[in-house]
Amino acid sequence: MRLAILGGGGFRVPLVYRALLDDHAEGRVTHVTLHDLDAGRLHAIARVLAEQADGVPDAPEVEVTTDLDEALVKADFVFVAIRVHGLDGRALDERLALEEGVLGQETVGAGGISYGLRTVPVANRIARRVAEISPQAWVINFTNPAGLVTEAMSHHLGDRVIGICDSPVGLGRRVARVLGVDPRDATLDYVGLNHLGWVRGIQAGGRDRLPELLADGEALASFEEGRLFGATWLRAIGAVPNEYLHYYYYNREAVAAARAAAQTRGTFLLQQQQRFYEETANGGGSALALWDRTRLERETTYMAENREAAGAGERSSCDLESGGYERVAIDLMRAISQDRQATLILNVRNRGALPGLDDDAVVEVPCRVGSDGAQILPLDPIPEHGLGLVTSVKAVERSTIEAATTGSRSAALRALSIHPLVDSVAVAGRLLDAYQRNIPQLGYLGS
Ligand code: G6P
Ligand code: MN
Repeated sequence: MRLAILGGGGFRVPLVYRALLDDHAEGRVTHVTLHDLDAGRLHAIARVLAEQADGVPDAPEVEVTTDLDEALVKADFVFVAIRVHGLDGRALDERLALEEGVLGQETVGAGGISYGLRTVPVANRIARRVAEISPQAWVINFTNPAGLVTEAMSHHLGDRVIGICDSPVGLGRRVARVLGVDPRDATLDYVGLNHLGWVRGIQAGGRDRLPELLADGEALASFEEGRLFGATWLRAIGAVPNEYLHYYYYNREAVAAARAAAQTRGTFLLQQQQRFYEETANGGGSALALWDRTRLERETTYMAENREAAGAGERSSCDLESGGYERVAIDLMRAISQDRQATLILNVRNRGALPGLDDDAVVEVPCRVGSDGAQILPLDPIPEHGLGLVTSVKAVERSTIEAATTGSRSAALRALSIHPLVDSVAVAGRLLDAYQRNIPQLGYLGS
């Protein structure tokens, strides 16, 4: 089986490759084609993969290319993990928003809109190209903002594009562990949009164990989301939110922490990644060892400002090992290609599953996956406390896609203005001007 990875020079590609190396079953991926616009990054990552494959006799073959069609033409699966305008773009999204006093995070708030506005045109082109030259391929989208980008691509690819994120799996794993349940024996009742969802039940041993967790203050204080949100708030909503909801529920604190920080997450990663790619290109040492040290530092500092604002302390050591991101992708691919039924939380079109959202709205929910793709499992409606937020943010995503697809500046202004974390149309207008002045990829919006 052949896998193409777009954004193949990206830092997380070795995670995927490591999971492929562990897979010796029949029907596994035997060829990987890495595609990237930047040949230097491709070669750096190819060096890491070569070290990973060292001594593994059936290691998947790796090719690299800067030609999109070449990557797509024979692919059975296409992973899309691109970052339009790189981490420079991410740092700009953050800085310009913070200068206006609002959040610039890459998926939540104004930053996510700016990132979506420059990513959707590229994602649309990729989706059209897949539909033309590789219509048999399944597309798995990792590109953030993942829900919005998946929805844009679904206009061209229908249900053959599926979006993934590791945050619901991570949350489910933590909740199960606190309850003393093996995550594989637990069924998570999770609902929402990407980076905007809630665990509102966890079935294990024939009953829902969430009420027991919510009643236990000590247990709540022992894991990441419990500490981020606090027992009082979790009890008030009767659910455990995805960690990204910290940006909504504690917005004032999150913005203050981001403004007080010496540098934004984007700037930190920009510098960290520049060092990694430069040293890998020039250095004679182990590219894999350098990659692993860099990865660990990235994991350790993940959401550090939010944790600090909440007094939540350090990340737990079991969250520093990866296993979420690439596991979901590999499990999904295997379930489709070998019709191995699996239950996974995925970004797919709603198709009547959740009232309050139309059929084409991409939502993040538990699905049953087999050779015919992903089917949403029966689920309860979105809880009332979250419904307004979900429909507001979906309207933001729709306006962003409209702007990116038609070039309408007015739709872009609408997206920014109606976002629950942008508190003034005047702020939205100034911010859009600033984004357009600083980000050449937004030139298509006109003035
Ligand atoms: C989580 C999110 C991803 C995000 C990743 C890395 O896993 O679900 O969407 O890309 O964190 O965040 P970072 O700040 O390290 O780029
Ligand atoms: Mn994610």
